[in-house]
Amino acid sequence: MKKVLIAVAALLGVTVVIIGVGVAMLASSLDEKLAAPDTPFPEVTASTDPAVVARGEYIVRTVGHCTQCHGDYPRENPAANSPTVPLSGGFEFRMGPMGTLFAANLTSDPETGIGKRTDRELARTISTGVLSNGQLSVFMRYSAANLSADDVVAVVSYLRKLPPTKKAVPPPALTTMGRALFATMTFTPDLAPLPEHVPPSEEPSVKRGEYLAENVALCVGCHSHIDLATFLPTGPKAGGGDPDPSPDESDMEFTPPNLTAHPTGMTGKLDEEKFIERFGAGRAFPASKMPWENLSRMSESDLRSIYRYLRSLPPIENDVGPTYRKQGWKRAG
Ligand code: HEC
Ligand code: HEC
Repeated sequence: MKKVLIAVAALLGVTVVIIGVGVAMLASSLDEKLAAPDTPFPEVTASTDPAVVARGEYIVRTVGHCTQCHGDYPRENPAANSPTVPLSGGFEFRMGPMGTLFAANLTSDPETGIGKRTDRELARTISTGVLSNGQLSVFMRYSAANLSADDVVAVVSYLRKLPPTKKAVPPPALTTMGRALFATMTFTPDLAPLPEHVPPSEEPSVKRGEYLAENVALCVGCHSHIDLATFLPTGPKAGGGDPDPSPDESDMEFTPPNLTAHPTGMTGKLDEEKFIERFGAGRAFPASKMPWENLSRMSESDLRSIYRYLRSLPPIENDVGPTYRKQGWKRAG
């Protein structure tokens, strides 16, 4: 009997060691999996034309909501994500046992910011997700705006104007487990053609709304089901997102509601004026990941364009229930 137990214990021990070695091997393969140094550089030159810089500022601080991640402000006070919040980064994306990533300092400081990056390096990071060191950034690839060529130039031009702030941001700090888990997933640089540029205009248009909602404000990305194999939104388009634990470490979760024109969707429930009013009212829940501070500063024409685009999508019947609720909430009955 004792012998059998010893044998079982030995086998378990060996299994644990094998799993341990496997996890360590997987973890050490992550850098290689994220390496994409051959990703081509877009040919981009920053402009000093004030109109171009202003368009870049509007994307970075408003509709493209870069400050939601790169803004240097206390996250318990979302109102501090103001129109002038510094872009010196440092925000910690804490992913529990997987480790922590840090938002980069985007000011022109040469040591701690982007002062030494070339225009094409910045453009490549924004368009494909690949950093200047050739490694793919999962955040830049999957959670940041996908801009038209003109808007990439505008954004790079604006970033160049940011006064230097010295603030060292730590390198990524993933745990062995985090690295191993990431290594089992498939991440690829975004090599798709850039979306067509649709410039702002006085008159709202479905086309401008499509460009913004799909690519810049990322309404569709958050408000659709995400395929966990590719990290990309899948259908039904803007028909409601997946429940996500609240980042405030409570037992609550958020669900991005259906935005389509079906009576269960937000553009079905609200007419255009009420929709504009809803954005004017801003954030209801302090911990919601929706960048309300940025998006509620959008121009009225852009907001109307987005409304009209969302209304034009196939109406999806999907009542997501309360958008802020106890984790694991189920509809009664
Ligand atoms: C969801 C969070 C998030 C959003 C939104 C986001 N970023 Fe980032 N960004 C990051 C993180 C995190 C890094 C650091 C790299 C890493 O660890 O993945 C980064 C890195 C960068 C870099 C590379 C900096 C360097 O040192 O070379 C640039 C440039 C950049 N972001 C620009 C932008 C712009 C422009 C926008 C808006 C269009 C934006 N980011 C929106 C999270 C974000
Ligand atoms: C980063 C993810 C994210 C992005 C980007 C995002 N949303 Fe949301 N949205 C949410 C979440 C989560 C909620 C539910 C919590 C809340 O109301 O803040 C929500 C709620 C809403 C609501 C319902 C508010 C209410 O009164 O119940 C509307 C309308 C809305 N979003 C529209 C949009 C539009 C339009 C865009 C693009 C311009 C957008 N969202 C971009 C995550 C997102």
